[in-house]
Amino acid sequence: MSWIVDLLKAFGGVCRTAALDATMWTVQGSQITVNLKDVPELQKPGGAVFLKGGALRTPVLVVKRPDDGYLCVENRCTHMGRKLDPEPDGTTLRCCSVSHSTFDYQGNELTGPAKGPIRVYPSQQVGSDLVISLE
Ligand code: FES
Repeated sequence: MSWIVDLLKAFGGVCRTAALDATMWTVQGSQITVNLKDVPELQKPGGAVFLKGGALRTPVLVVKRPDDGYLCVENRCTHMGRKLDPEPDGTTLRCCSVSHSTFDYQGNELTGPAKGPIRVYPSQQVGSDLVISLE
């Protein structure tokens, strides 16, 4: 039965990664600031959240990397625009659609029908904040 649920989720583009409450992050110009201390999903490697809405033109996926850094990418597959999830291997992202394109942490497409790389945004931790540059 679970394969049916998984298939329906894939058709609907439903990911495991949840949206982060908009009170936990702000956008000023081309910079996003995420208050990390209130985001348990980003405390352990492989954890992730996505940011969407407000002043953001495109959604952003934030992943806690195994090396203790953060990966911030445009959360939009270059095939048909579905969202992405981090894979348990700690090195790839997978589209939540049926076709499941995959990307490495540099944004390069690896498998599937994706039409190009996804955009990776530079980021740095400043105290308890994660600062993401959209430029
Ligand atoms: S939308 Fe990502 S593979 Fe189709």
